[in-house]
Amino acid sequence: MDVDRFVEDCVIANRESDAQAAVKEVLARAVSTPNAVISALGEPEKAGLDVLLSSSTLTIFAAIWTPQMNLMPHDHLMWANIGIYTGREDNIFWKRSADGIRAYGAEALFVGDAASLPEDAVHSVTNPLLRFTGGIHIYGGDFFDTARSQWNPETLDEEPSDGAVIRGIFERENARLGLDSNS
Ligand SMILES: [Fe+2]
Repeated sequence: MDVDRFVEDCVIANRESDAQAAVKEVLARAVSTPNAVISALGEPEKAGLDVLLSSSTLTIFAAIWTPQMNLMPHDHLMWANIGIYTGREDNIFWKRSADGIRAYGAEALFVGDAASLPEDAVHSVTNPLLRFTGGIHIYGGDFFDTARSQWNPETLDEEPSDGAVIRGIFERENARLGLDSNS
């Protein structure tokens, strides 16, 4: 896998009329050879969002989940494509309702799977495995500079979130496990 070529292919696909579907095709092709992705991006060793592209119209990063890591319900306010290259991501899908959010669906993503989430999706994510999970996450907008929401995992109270808040959660996960976010 050539990372620069992959990013360029995603940028070009993102200009198509159905950008999400076109980008998903590029992503699905990449994670269909997961060992090539690991060779290019490295074997996961700590939680993190390893950014490959950050622009106003497209964000691409490798999300690395520590063993059994959980991320509370959150929205993105832009479409998202997720492709797994090692491990597994279990998604619970939530719907906004009159009194908050409620869970309504689930999808377990295994190595080689690519999934699409619509703009209004709310999901929580678990790595159920005793080893690291790595997925390429692609968003149809500026993931890091968009104000959005997350929900307290215990009370389901809605709280403000954005890229910095999510990054902080991944860094705290490393601190909790004695891993160095900056190494
Ligand atoms: Fe997400």
